[in-house]
Amino acid sequence: MFVDYEEIDGFLKPEHFKTLKDLKLENVKKDEIKIYSNRVFKNGEINGSCLNNSLIQELFENYHNKALNLLRKLNNNKIELWDYSEFHIIETGSHYRYPIHRDSPFKILSGVIYISPEINKGTLLFSNKSGKDKKEILWEPNKALFFSRDENNSYHSYEGDEKSTRRALVYNLMTDNLKEVCKIENINFYKVKIREFLNPYIHRIFKRVI
Ligand SMILES: [Fe+2]
Repeated sequence: MFVDYEEIDGFLKPEHFKTLKDLKLENVKKDEIKIYSNRVFKNGEINGSCLNNSLIQELFENYHNKALNLLRKLNNNKIELWDYSEFHIIETGSHYRYPIHRDSPFKILSGVIYISPEINKGTLLFSNKSGKDKKEILWEPNKALFFSRDENNSYHSYEGDEKSTRRALVYNLMTDNLKEVCKIENINFYKVKIREFLNPYIHRIFKRVI
């Protein structure tokens, strides 16, 4: 069974949705993915790539309370762990497939807001790592999906629809406190730390994660 999640239609204010939709980015090859990182830290520092600082600040001011309330509802015991937020733009090529994974334990709230095109494939949720009980959170522009990961019940994936590049805003609440996450989830800190270190390499070489 997948952890509790929230689907929200029309998540972004129309002006923010339009800005992200109209954003001019590099072309993505059909079997490629491009991740543009944008972050806001607890101390107010902003670190952006495809979005300018004032837009990142505006997104933070408009949606941070909303995200905290979602985390309160979905996993209240991680609420104190927030250190920074991510507003990544992810462009997924039409034939690219991201393997089934659980999110990094550094993510305390995982969110995705579908941006463009009009029609594509939504996030796929599963009850285990082998892809059992597949459920698609259907694609609809400006629809959001939020969940708070746990070790065994948050397997998911995404992929292109073999027709067009898929643009999404990935909005995550993040922590630096892996030790406390492991304590809350009752999982082994050292095992998780090694796994998280290895996963990017395993993904690059074997196109899967552990
Ligand atoms: Fe994910």
